[in-house]
Amino acid sequence: MTVASIDAGRVMRVAALRPVGDRTVELILAGSGLPRWAPGAHVDLVLPSGQVRPYSLAGDPDDARSWRLLIAYSGGGASAQIHHALRVGDEVRVRGPRNLFPLGMAPRYLFLASGAGIAPLLPMARRVRAARIHPWSMIHIDADGGTGALAAEVGSLGPDCRSSSDPATARDALALAPSRTAVYACGSGRFVDAIADAAPTGVEVHRQRFDAPPTEPGAAHPFELELARRGETVRVEAGTSVLTALHRAGVPVPVACGTGICGACVVGVVGGEVQHRDAVLRAADRAASRLIVTCVSTAAGDRLSLDL
Ligand code: FES
Repeated sequence: MTVASIDAGRVMRVAALRPVGDRTVELILAGSGLPRWAPGAHVDLVLPSGQVRPYSLAGDPDDARSWRLLIAYSGGGASAQIHHALRVGDEVRVRGPRNLFPLGMAPRYLFLASGAGIAPLLPMARRVRAARIHPWSMIHIDADGGTGALAAEVGSLGPDCRSSSDPATARDALALAPSRTAVYACGSGRFVDAIADAAPTGVEVHRQRFDAPPTEPGAAHPFELELARRGETVRVEAGTSVLTALHRAGVPVPVACGTGICGACVVGVVGGEVQHRDAVLRAADRAASRLIVTCVSTAAGDRLSLDL
């Protein structure tokens, strides 16, 4: 199987690594001539083990010399490597940034986060504050109960910004949100789904989850994959992902997380319907069926035509 990378990325040095909240560390990566990014952007961190994980950028979008990430400890995998094995001075490869969680214009904002999900919301809040858009507020749910460095940072953003260990605080703030409030929610899948389910009428929820959604293993049924520009057809067997079928056919589609959360493997769709299983596409993109996250999503019918 051929696996092509998204881009070569850049090598960055670990400049700082320190605890900032409940099971969360702040990772500062140093480089030079770093591209600017917009709030909501993320980078893909390529760990020394070869594992690739997307992390939201939490610092200053105009900082051309360092990028700041917040990493929650999840008990193993990439987070364990970062918490326990990474050291100041180590080099890591970083790809991106890319933005799948952009901040849109709205008359008022409510930022809701759980744990390290606060990462993309910090630069969003600073952007809204700088633009003097009012009202806006932020609730950060963190098990440390508002005692860590992250909680202090949240509290310093404005009078309506606070951390709490009680998830009901976020639900209460949401219940009071007036119509046309743009809610940006980031955290575990359970957290952001609960926010979306509880949103009052007229409140638009934009969500990003930092854990992978449960996915089914590959296609539920075999189907034909048409590569429109190549003029080729690839058969996808039941239990095989679109991405795997493409790689087996020698089509170099980028891949990073492999779990539908980073967007690296997104491909254009020119015909057929997609059964979406990812956690990155926006509702409008899903409804239009013009994009597919090839590592997890599949065809709804017996044929799918891709812009490849
Ligand atoms: S590789 Fe990350 S979404 Fe497919």
